[in-house]
Amino acid sequence: MSITGIEAPAVEVRGLVRDFAVKGGPPRRALDDFDLAVAPGEVHGLLGPNGAGKTTLCKILSTVLLPTAGTARVQGLDVVADAKRVRPLLGIVFGGERGLYARMTAAQNLRFWAALYGHGRREGRRRAAELLERVGLGPRADEAVETFSRGMKQRLHLARGLVGDPRVLLLDEPTVGMDPVSAHEFRDLVEDLRAEGRAVLLTTHDMAEAEALCDRVSFIDGGRLLRCEDPRVLGELLSRHERVRASGVPEALAARLAALPGVERVRATGPGAVLVETDRGGAALPVLRTLVEAGVTDVSTAPPSLEEVYLHLIGDRGMAVRP
Ligand SMILES: Nc1ncnc2c1ncn2[C@@H]1O[C@H](COP(=O)(O)OP(=O)(O)OP(=O)(O)O)[C@@H](O)[C@H]1O
Ligand SMILES: [Mg+2]
Repeated sequence: MSITGIEAPAVEVRGLVRDFAVKGGPPRRALDDFDLAVAPGEVHGLLGPNGAGKTTLCKILSTVLLPTAGTARVQGLDVVADAKRVRPLLGIVFGGERGLYARMTAAQNLRFWAALYGHGRREGRRRAAELLERVGLGPRADEAVETFSRGMKQRLHLARGLVGDPRVLLLDEPTVGMDPVSAHEFRDLVEDLRAEGRAVLLTTHDMAEAEALCDRVSFIDGGRLLRCEDPRVLGELLSRHERVRASGVPEALAARLAALPGVERVRATGPGAVLVETDRGGAALPVLRTLVEAGVTDVSTAPPSLEEVYLHLIGDRGMAVRP
């Protein structure tokens, strides 16, 4: 809390720029005049294609990378000038293999990090046990991390991110490598973190995950903020532009599908294989019905791709997508 009683934003980014030197060429602008605000207790999604600048942003916020220009603050503290005071406020989960001690057990890893955060031995043990339970690793607490699967390591990363009791969590693709059940449990965990008043900045490629979890979603591409939206907008786009895939579809049937209301286009994806794109909520249903009634059995539905959702989001504002 500040002196005025108004809590500072958990994360506040203004005009952030980050250039990387590129051998024999002009610098690469990974972040370009980027703005972002995350309120305390908010779960904020950061959605964007590969190379959009998401990890670069997370690294600047976590004080391991310096911005080229602009400012970034965590609970009112500047990540460059006040880096030392910022670090204890943060829980960071970058995932992958790095940062885990493979030969140590899960519990030993957590106790080690608890000690780094200044917890005493007893408190460290208590926190380690509690967090391992929380991420579903209780039964494997005393096994070496090198025996863990990818998803289990990812869970341990999550526990590690929570060990310092952070007010702000930076989660960079936290569910990569998790099975659907683990990903579901992860959602419950994020709900708990929100209920505890922690802010979460969550990077993901998974639009359904973003829609289910986030209070707001920022779309980033080419280092720029494209739009910041209520996730319901995302949900609407996902259902409005649902796709139907089918194979064993004769040409005449494909033509009939194309004429159905709400069908945007029918693309041939192989001999007799089609991808039907819709642009109206519920339009996939008559497509499915028509296919099934015509005796087609190989039919499935899928949400639109991230690229498509982008096109629709940006198209709405008449902006051009970067190549
Ligand atoms: N150390 C570096 N040196 C040069 N270029 C870099 C460096 N780190 C990142 N970049 C570039 O910055 C851009 C943004 O990368 P970043 O890792 O932030 O993307 P991202 O949104 O996290 O992508 P992904 O979804 O693949 O994780 C990319 O063009 C990347 O190649
Ligand atoms: Mg990344």
